[in-house]
Amino acid sequence: MARAALYAGTFFHAPIRGEVACLEDALVEVNADGIIAAVTLADDPNAATLKREADRRGDLVRIGAGAYVLPGFVDLHIHAPQYPQLGTALHLPLEVWLQQHTFPLEARYADLAFAGRVYEALIDDLLAQGTTTALMFATVHADATRLLVDHAVAKGMRALIGKVAMDNPDQCPDFYRDASVDAALAGTRAVIDHARAHLDNRAGLVRPVVTPRFIPSCTDALLGELGAMAKACGCHIQTHCSESDWEHGYVQTRMSRSDTESLDGFGLLTRHTILAHGTLLTTTDMDRIASRGAGVAHCPLSNVYFSNAVFPLKAALAKGLRVGLGTDIAGGPSASMFDTARMAVAASRLLDEGVDPAKDQASRGTPGVRIDWQTAFHLATAGGAAALDLPVGTFEPGRAFDAMVIDTAAKAGTVRLFDEVDDSVSILQKILFTASRTNVRQVFVQGRAVAGTARA
Ligand code: GUN
Ligand code: FE
Repeated sequence: MARAALYAGTFFHAPIRGEVACLEDALVEVNADGIIAAVTLADDPNAATLKREADRRGDLVRIGAGAYVLPGFVDLHIHAPQYPQLGTALHLPLEVWLQQHTFPLEARYADLAFAGRVYEALIDDLLAQGTTTALMFATVHADATRLLVDHAVAKGMRALIGKVAMDNPDQCPDFYRDASVDAALAGTRAVIDHARAHLDNRAGLVRPVVTPRFIPSCTDALLGELGAMAKACGCHIQTHCSESDWEHGYVQTRMSRSDTESLDGFGLLTRHTILAHGTLLTTTDMDRIASRGAGVAHCPLSNVYFSNAVFPLKAALAKGLRVGLGTDIAGGPSASMFDTARMAVAASRLLDEGVDPAKDQASRGTPGVRIDWQTAFHLATAGGAAALDLPVGTFEPGRAFDAMVIDTAAKAGTVRLFDEVDDSVSILQKILFTASRTNVRQVFVQGRAVAGTARA
């Protein structure tokens, strides 16, 4: 349960892309529903009184020296069942990896005992690394997907979860696909109903998502029906889009148009859609995505292994696309959004400067497309929240208190500060670039402590 509290400490957030704000010695008042009621800065004349009164009520939580509060991360793209293959088989091309490793692994989730073990471990690990919101693909199995919903609800994670729909016999093996369009729709519907009727999910922290895996896995009939279902249910939609040369080419051959145009034609490109990757999006595709208000999950670590190219993030942002970051577990070999944000900066630098030393500097890269760490921090928090239209990701009144406390002094941690040289800007940079799980002291979702040293 959330409890009313007044958190006293230093908070970092990035409400505006490209900027970071440090709320030094501030007070963040969280109500009993876990919503931020007020933010009071150190120089406010009421600050001392507020603090004294909260202390008298027993509501004051002092964050303490060397610790800083950041918004929880929003991971816009995770395959929950792929956690057991994290860090393996990354040498293969996407289409081989899917057929030889991923589909056989996902097929095992007919076994609910296995599913339960993986899903519990995954949610624990995500929360412990500061991820408070996760948009997740499950498997084709409605039962195991319901179990993922149950575990997310029980652990207090904010999650959007979909039963994967995939019915195309040309692209999906016999042992792992929906038996028919009707079977895929019934399973999707069952998970939507389960999440919405869940008695412990009355606050709606866990939401169902319509989840066509990607165009190659689905028949046209299923894609059209899922578009209609998403509209009727008012659900979010998640799918993969223009991820790799093979995938992009497959869709062009089958549909004679791009992923984006095809998804739009099936009613699957909406304000509630998150497209994973988008590495090979054209400017025309981007215009269409922007006009529909759909979001993109940029997965820079996964793209290194499976996408054949670097996502043109700067161009997407310039077009007004709503972009957040995703780990793409297990396409990306890390469950950490710290690693993902770092790679977003690094990937943009590689695109900017180019990678082939045999070329002259002048012709090596695409100058001007790098992003800075402030943008990466924004995308990992407020940007992802905005793409999902969720009121999280910053410390502002009316937003849910989804947050992590970073202990920069943790002995076993990986952040090293020195008073002589560090100021608030370098402290946040060091947290973003060098922090790890060992520095995440406590994690809150909607005011409830869900991981760390003082679990509720
Ligand atoms: N495209 C279709 N399925 C998948 C998947 O599981 N991972 C990635 N990275 N791309 C996909
Ligand atoms: Fe993916």
